[in-house]
Amino acid sequence: MSEALHEIALTVNGVVRRTAVPARRLLSDCLRQNLGLTGTHVGCEHGVCGCCTVLMDGEPVRSCLTFAVTAAGHEITTVEGLAGPDGSLSPVQRAFSECHALQCGFCTPGFLCTVTALLRETPAPTDEQVVEGISGNLCRCTGYQNIVKAVHRAAELIADEDGTPAPAGGEA
Ligand code: FES
Ligand code: FES
Repeated sequence: MSEALHEIALTVNGVVRRTAVPARRLLSDCLRQNLGLTGTHVGCEHGVCGCCTVLMDGEPVRSCLTFAVTAAGHEITTVEGLAGPDGSLSPVQRAFSECHALQCGFCTPGFLCTVTALLRETPAPTDEQVVEGISGNLCRCTGYQNIVKAVHRAAELIADEDGTPAPAGGEA
């Protein structure tokens, strides 16, 4: 017997998207398979690696641990939604590129979402706060040093854009 489908509507990267999912479809699978947003990566599917991190109402969530039906009515931001409307990279994306904070890139969408939320909450994090903030995201390639540098660089870029003084955080 085929599984019953539930009609859901969720706002993804600013656009209302409607789709039908089985009750147990994961948000990660819904984004990738129903909505074609394959920028959200799936690694462990057990809530460990953080690759699948997206923002739900601005807060990072593991989309592999979230049912699509529970995301109904919420605002989801995926890596595809981080760039500006004209396609210009966000400060966090630019900083990751500038600081060589990725190698294979598999973990990167999750890091970008996590760091975007981290810097909204803590615009000038210390090294310690950065390490704590990204502790739920695993990277098997970079050794994290350039990722930490990129977070500080992103904080500077955001401060420049906002016209606020450069963050006093950085080296703790
Ligand atoms: S795929 Fe979701 S935490 Fe690893
Ligand atoms: S860049 Fe390869 S896993 Fe992070």
